[in-house]
Amino acid sequence: MLRVAVLVSGGGTNLQAIIDAVENGTITNTQIVGVISNNKNAFALERAGRHGIPAQCISPKDFETRDEFNRVFLDKVNELNVDLIVLAGFLVVIPEMMIREYRNRIINIHPSLIPSFCGTGFYGLKVHEAALERGVKVVGATVHFVDEGTDTGPIILQKAVSVEEGDTPEILQRRVMEQAEWKILPQAIDLIANGKVQIVDGKVSIAQ
Ligand code: GRF
Repeated sequence: MLRVAVLVSGGGTNLQAIIDAVENGTITNTQIVGVISNNKNAFALERAGRHGIPAQCISPKDFETRDEFNRVFLDKVNELNVDLIVLAGFLVVIPEMMIREYRNRIINIHPSLIPSFCGTGFYGLKVHEAALERGVKVVGATVHFVDEGTDTGPIILQKAVSVEEGDTPEILQRRVMEQAEWKILPQAIDLIANGKVQIVDGKVSIAQ
């Protein structure tokens, strides 16, 4: 059974997609054992509560230094005794010591087809604003392993979504969430939970 912690900062629609997928059997061999947010007002915490998933809040703002936060944050994650950490809209930089300790056991969902529209400053609506500004015809989402860079780890799954006439950043964001994010993040967790994901020479290979 894959023990999973989900880290969130906002509305939690990706968390909800994971919860629903575990409950309806789309994700097998997996238990969400905890949700952690840096934002005490995140609706994602409400979503966890409704499904009986232990949820807690920890924010860098509550600590004198980032190092102190990083240590307590890592301790809290370690207490959950998880096999996989899922970043689902988590807006806090993951401490390098956590990345080292959970090498290739942290995944993230990014709302673009990496390497487009990613890296520092590309998050949430900003990603979709940049895509519309550039005039691309296809966007999408990416699930990738987290390494020391920003959106630079090995890519696990991607799914393309069309840009349509009249799209606003909000409309495009919603379509990418509905048609891509909420599908490939649960799919990636199920593949990992069933031992189908390997990293070979820095690239992901998925067993059929
Ligand atoms: C999503 O757009 C996701 O791609 C990005 O942050 C947002 C989180 O949304 N990483 P939610 O909190 O899952 O609704």
